[in-house]
Amino acid sequence: MVDIKSLLSQLTLEEKAAFCTGSGPWQTIDVERLGIPRITMSDGPHGVRKVQNIEEFGLAKSFPATCFPPAVLLASTWNKDLVQRVGEFLGDECISLDVDILLGPGVNIKRTPLCGRNFEYYSEDPYLAGEMGTAFVKGVQSKGVGTSLKHYSANNQEYQRFIISAEIDERTLREIYLPAFEKTVKESQPWTVMCAYNKINGIFASEHYDLLTRIMKSEWNLDGFIVSDWGAVQNRVAALKGGLDLQMPGPNDLDVQKVVEAVKNNELDENVLNQAVERILKIIFRAKKTKKAHIEFDKEKHHEFARKVAAEGIILLKNEDNVLPIKDASSIAIIGKMAKEPRFQGGGSSLINPTKVDNPFQEIKKLGGESILVRYADGYAKEGIDKTLIDEACDVAKQSDIVIIFSGLPFEHESEGYDRKTIKMPESHIELIKAVAKSNTKTIVVLNNGSVISLYEWIDSVPVVIEAYLGGQAGGGAVADVLFGKENPSGKLAESFPKRLEHTPSYINYPGEAGKVRYGEGLYVGYRYYDKKSIEPIFPFGYGLSYTTFAYSNLTISSKSFKDIDGVDVNVDITNTGKVPGKEVVQLYIHQPNPKADKPNKEMKGFSKVELQPNETKTVAFHLDSRSFAYYSVIHKSWVWDNGEYEILVGASSKDIRLRTKVILESTQNLPCKLNMDSTLRDWLDDPNGKFIIDEMIAQRINQVKMQNPDMEVDENQVKQELLMWAIDMPLLRMFKYVENQLPMSAEDLVKYFLTRVGVNNEENAS
Ligand code: BGC
Repeated sequence: MVDIKSLLSQLTLEEKAAFCTGSGPWQTIDVERLGIPRITMSDGPHGVRKVQNIEEFGLAKSFPATCFPPAVLLASTWNKDLVQRVGEFLGDECISLDVDILLGPGVNIKRTPLCGRNFEYYSEDPYLAGEMGTAFVKGVQSKGVGTSLKHYSANNQEYQRFIISAEIDERTLREIYLPAFEKTVKESQPWTVMCAYNKINGIFASEHYDLLTRIMKSEWNLDGFIVSDWGAVQNRVAALKGGLDLQMPGPNDLDVQKVVEAVKNNELDENVLNQAVERILKIIFRAKKTKKAHIEFDKEKHHEFARKVAAEGIILLKNEDNVLPIKDASSIAIIGKMAKEPRFQGGGSSLINPTKVDNPFQEIKKLGGESILVRYADGYAKEGIDKTLIDEACDVAKQSDIVIIFSGLPFEHESEGYDRKTIKMPESHIELIKAVAKSNTKTIVVLNNGSVISLYEWIDSVPVVIEAYLGGQAGGGAVADVLFGKENPSGKLAESFPKRLEHTPSYINYPGEAGKVRYGEGLYVGYRYYDKKSIEPIFPFGYGLSYTTFAYSNLTISSKSFKDIDGVDVNVDITNTGKVPGKEVVQLYIHQPNPKADKPNKEMKGFSKVELQPNETKTVAFHLDSRSFAYYSVIHKSWVWDNGEYEILVGASSKDIRLRTKVILESTQNLPCKLNMDSTLRDWLDDPNGKFIIDEMIAQRINQVKMQNPDMEVDENQVKQELLMWAIDMPLLRMFKYVENQLPMSAEDLVKYFLTRVGVNNEENAS
């Protein structure tokens, strides 16, 4: 056991300051004198991008490694075990490439489809993103290799990412943008967390004390260290104070000097520096326990696994007349350059140098066998609409039984560093699809893109659409497997596909101006928005077809009414009612009919992927705890759940709810009373103790009216209603001010008296 405290005590101030900055682009500093080794970090997330020259920064040439499917496709598998296994494979590759920490996963929420990096992120839904992040980290770290959970937080666009301030209200931050980080940290303890470049409410992520120290380290108990995104540190001393431990890349002598001076001037508490050093040391020695084997990983085995994974995330969007799987075609036309030059990953720091790349054209030929005649046409040029290529494609289509068009987004459209301007596919692809569809009614469109694209321009003209996203290096083989039914598609959308960009939640609050982007849609991101606004997406969140069908039955709950501390168990039977084996993603959403706080119509709180043979039935079980029913109360600064009725919805997508049942939650939460001098009548009525006092007050008012009108029959209800109607949103204090003359004490003293009765300390309240 290494004695970290003793090592720390032997480091000089200068050494400690230097230690909190990298030695170069990818490594920490070693201190030979004390036997402190250096560790190596590499991108991430869906492959290991270990640069060949470790002193080279940026997108330098990297060693070959398996390019697994990027996060967009991993999330579409909805398969936690599979994602964990991807992590294990990545861990093995890290060991073989001598990498101690893999820089991923990215769990940022897809706020706008335009974000250039959406392919690196999982979902628009925090629950799904958190489950995926947790599984990924567990997988990698089970091998004794670290991860870096990124980019913390609210890095939801590339536009001006170094300076933009994401302006987010506290509840939205807690409920939408933080939970994926929270879950991953609490459940799988990533060795490191990477702060984002941007600001959150005016403060750089790298200096954000509330986010880094108060929430990440104290509230969620991160046990590793926080590293800056590469170049995210603007002010080194402020960053240390905020809770950022390691600055990358290094070296940075000037910043180190500033830290030394700040300690000497008492501007920075040396303990803050010590804590950063301790956290980094702990992880360095943890990493060094894993022997890096320097043996080659099994490239073929990893490639085969990557193919399985890719196949499981492919989504069948449309399959009219069961055109798929391909059964008895004697000729196939394959159209589109992407069939031979596949699009399988996005640009930027996650760009992997693959060990090999499947070519969909070849893979389809292989699986189809000798008996199928395969024709090919390019279909589109790199730029502009080429009529000759379209005509050629139509000819080939006319001569063949079925047509498979490979289209989507060209590589340059999606990358780290910049956002897209549109969700449209290139016109050349749209025109090609429309023309070919007229030449052959059995036209299948295979899409390769890293994030949402609009489909309405052509989707009605073709019977089949497959969203194959970015499948990694074996994505081409995976598409062939799905086309021929070797794999039954079981992917579902981890993001809503809107009809148009104008329909998207952040449309009028993106990309921001004057250094700020206002998250004006609040909680209403993704399906939460489409639900609330009754806007029909073209394909909803959670949607995806299969070559078989599934029936949902027997939705049961452990008890109709349950206590928050016990939670509630939910079971549902799923049956494969078709003819082939398949997997279904069963989704559980919660709806609260009469919420006290503003709430989305439904929110996903559970999902499970189940594999079934034809006619087989399995029971899928969920456990819902109090957090599943909670919202973040900015008044209480904590998660709060209301007493009362909720509805549990179980379905095949966010729009395809098959079964529902009601439950009653009994809260045992003992929330401190938050009434104060400004509280309105409505606030008082909402508070259980406050209500008691108001009821008393109303009774008094009724008596008063009765006494004033002894000869009249007083309608008590009317008196009450009148009072509640006109005064409901009035602070009690103001209300009393009107009648202060008639009160036994001042209006202020009366409210104070009431506050004392509900247990509020007036001194605290005044401060
Ligand atoms: C990216 C990170 C990446 C880092 C190192 C940054 O530009 O935002 O995701 O891990 O570079 O390459």
